[in-house]
Parts: sequence; structure tokens; C-alpha cells
Amino acid sequence: MTGEPATVDAGAVDLLDPYVHATRDLTGRWRWLRRHDPVHWHQAGAAKGFWVVTRHADVLRVVRDSDTFTSMRGNMLGTLLRGRDPGAGRMLVVTDGRFHTGLRSLLVGGFAPRALRPVTHSITRATRELLRRLVERGGGDFVAEVAAQVPLQAICELLGVPEVDRPRVLELTGAAMLGEPADQAGMEARIAQSEILLYYTRLAAARRDAPADDVISLLVAGTVDDRPLTDEEVLLNCYNLVIGGDETARLALAGGLLALATHDEQWVRLMADPALVHSGAEEILRWTTPAAHVGRTVTADTELRGRALSEGDVVTLWMVSANRDEDVFAAPDTFDLARQPNRHLTFGYGPHFCLGAQLAREEIRALLAELRATVRSVEVTGPVRRLPSNFITGLSTLPVALTPR
Ligand code: HEM
Repeated sequence: MTGEPATVDAGAVDLLDPYVHATRDLTGRWRWLRRHDPVHWHQAGAAKGFWVVTRHADVLRVVRDSDTFTSMRGNMLGTLLRGRDPGAGRMLVVTDGRFHTGLRSLLVGGFAPRALRPVTHSITRATRELLRRLVERGGGDFVAEVAAQVPLQAICELLGVPEVDRPRVLELTGAAMLGEPADQAGMEARIAQSEILLYYTRLAAARRDAPADDVISLLVAGTVDDRPLTDEEVLLNCYNLVIGGDETARLALAGGLLALATHDEQWVRLMADPALVHSGAEEILRWTTPAAHVGRTVTADTELRGRALSEGDVVTLWMVSANRDEDVFAAPDTFDLARQPNRHLTFGYGPHFCLGAQLAREEIRALLAELRATVRSVEVTGPVRRLPSNFITGLSTLPVALTPR
């Protein structure tokens, strides 16, 4: 790293601290960085620091150029500062170059419109059922009862988890995502993670013997770089889909409902105009930005907005800031279901653009359509909690009362 910050940084916060993202409103901080220090060097205690990129145009420039800014060592701040992602070079999101292109083209068929049709049906069905049950009871925790369930159902459908196994897989995946490494829930999470990996190992073996019309079969039957994937690569990429598509979509759904509950005029508009289901889903994606950042490593000395970046530097791209960039979005801090155009970067951009973007969009559209059909009003009834994380940000609980239509 070379070069000094452009201006004195008065309101610095430790972006590494997971609780900062859960407890503080960083809107003003991001605005300051975009304006005064858009490519900012962040100290990281004893460890080497990292770059913080906050403007829309700069995020785009970096994620488009995977030769200079590689994902091969990881794509999250935490793992990049610790060294290397354990899946590096083998799991889609942390590969680059030929292997990434080959693996992505193998998987892309599983996300084509024809392949997604049954998944979309199952999303619509699950959303309808879960929401109606919640409405009948008058309300409850929207995260646990709806937002956590729909994305997992969708991933099970996509991967080809048989119906009979789903309750157990849903339970294990839910447990695997909970807790801090050091506490009891963290211990249980690790046990659940092992069990779920074992489950996918067995499912992959079954699909090797008898391929079906699902993503696991694509992984076990396909070749990348003229060779089949190893068992470990199959497993890591199943896991990539589960972690990539579960929590992120859950946070978009929950954050979307909270935004609607706290912006009465937008709720009224949505109820009056079915056309807002599509543009509204995009605005929810921008507003919630569940993946707050992605990370890259510099492969050769380079320059970004006048700052000198050195080979080996960690660069973090904060979509949570880019999605509020006043150079791109009119009134960026306004939640507007009719916003057009809406060039949000919630799914990233370039070679690693989210493979599940269409699926996630269907999940949010299904929620909006079902809210229109079923719910007259929504009210937040208790404290809303946020996940402590600098990577995946949003709500862990959302107690609501729902009045039927
Ligand atoms: C990639 C966000 C839903 C699977 C990404 C990336 C982002 C992202 C930002 C780019 C990562 C990078 O550049 O390093 C989200 C958000 C979602 C969502 C916010 C929900 C609102 C899903 C779903 C799935 C999925 C539902 C699949 C079931 C993937 C995969 C990649 C990816 C496989 C890696 C693509 C590649 O490296 O070529 N996602 N995602 N995501 N996402 Fe998503």
C-alpha cells in the first residue's frame, strides 16, 4: 500500500467489527467516504489493513477486472485477512479464469428459465402457505416463519433434495447458519454443518449412480478443464449454493417487509398497483443489500481513483454504499417501489454476477404478490434484531402483526 488518505477522517468506524453493522446506522459514514475518501485505506489492528471502495463506478471497475482483482484467495473480508478461503480455487465464487468459466457454464443450465420453472412454482406455493398460516395466527416472527423457509425450500428444489428428506435438511441448514463459533449454538452449528455435508456427499453419490434433472446431477456428470469434478469440488459447490442463496435471500425478504411496514405510503402504493411487484422487488434488493461487501486481492500493482494499490492488497467493495451513490441514484436514501432505472449492485457484477439472481427475484416478487393478495396491513410489534456481521447484513428477527385482507 502506498499513498496517504485524501482528507482527515473524522468519523472513522471499525468496519471489521461485526457489531458495528448490526447496531449503527452507517448511512452518513458511507456518504462521507464516497465524497471525501472513496478509495480509503482501513487499518486492521495488528493485521495488515485493507482498501474500502465505496463509489458505484469504482466497485464496477474492480469487479469487472478479475485479472487485476482476483477472487482466487477469497471474497470476504474475514477470510481474506486470515489468509485464504478454504474453498479457494475449487468453489465457484472463489475461483477465476478457465476453471471459473468452465464451472459456471456447467452450472448455468441449472438456473435457466426452463430449469427454474418448477422452483418458481414451489416458491409461490411455499410463500402462499407460510404467509397465510402467519396471517391466520395474527402474526409472529416473520424471519423464522416465512423468510427463513422459502429460500431453503427453493434451494432444496434446485439441488434435487427429495421431498422426504427436506424437513431434516431444512432443520440442519437452519442450525448450521446459527451461532457464534465460541458459544453453544456455534458448537451445534458446527455439528449441523458436518451432518449437512455428509448428507450432500450421500446425495451426490446417489446422483452419480442415477442422474436426475437437478443441479447436483449437473455437478457430478459434468467436466471442467476436461476432467470430472472431484467429490470435494462437488460438495463445495453444493455448499456454495446453499450459503449463497439461503441467508442472503432471507435477509432481502425480511428487510423488504420491514421497509414496507415502516413506509406507509409505499405500502398503500403496492396494494393499489400490481405493476410495482417487479420494480418493488428491485428496490427491496437495493434497499436491503444483504451482501454488504465483496472482497478481492490485487494481483499486480495498480491504481484506483489516484490511489496506488500494491500486489497482495485486500480490496473490499461495499455494495451497501454503492447502492446509495448519489451519482447513480436520485434521492438514494428514499425507499421508492417505483424507482426506474435501478442499477443496484446487490448481486455484484461481471464474471461473478450472482448465479441465483433470478431465483432471489422470484422469491421477493412472490412475497409482494402474496402480500397484495392476503394482507391488509402489517405492523412491527416488538424489537427488531440485526445479525452481527460485516458481510451478510440484515434482520435476525422481525416480530409482526398481520391483518387479513
Ligand atoms: C454470487 C448476492 C441469492 C448463488 C453472488 C455475488 C453476490 C451475491 C454479491 C457476487 C460475489 C462476488 O462477486 O464475489 C446475492 C444476494 C442474494 C443472492 C444478495 C439474494 C438476495 C443467491 C441464490 C443463489 C445464489 C438464491 C443460488 C441458489 C450464487 C452463486 C454465486 C453468487 C453460486 C457465485 C457466482 C460466480 O462466482 O460465478 N451472489 N445472492 N445467490 N450467488 Fe448470489
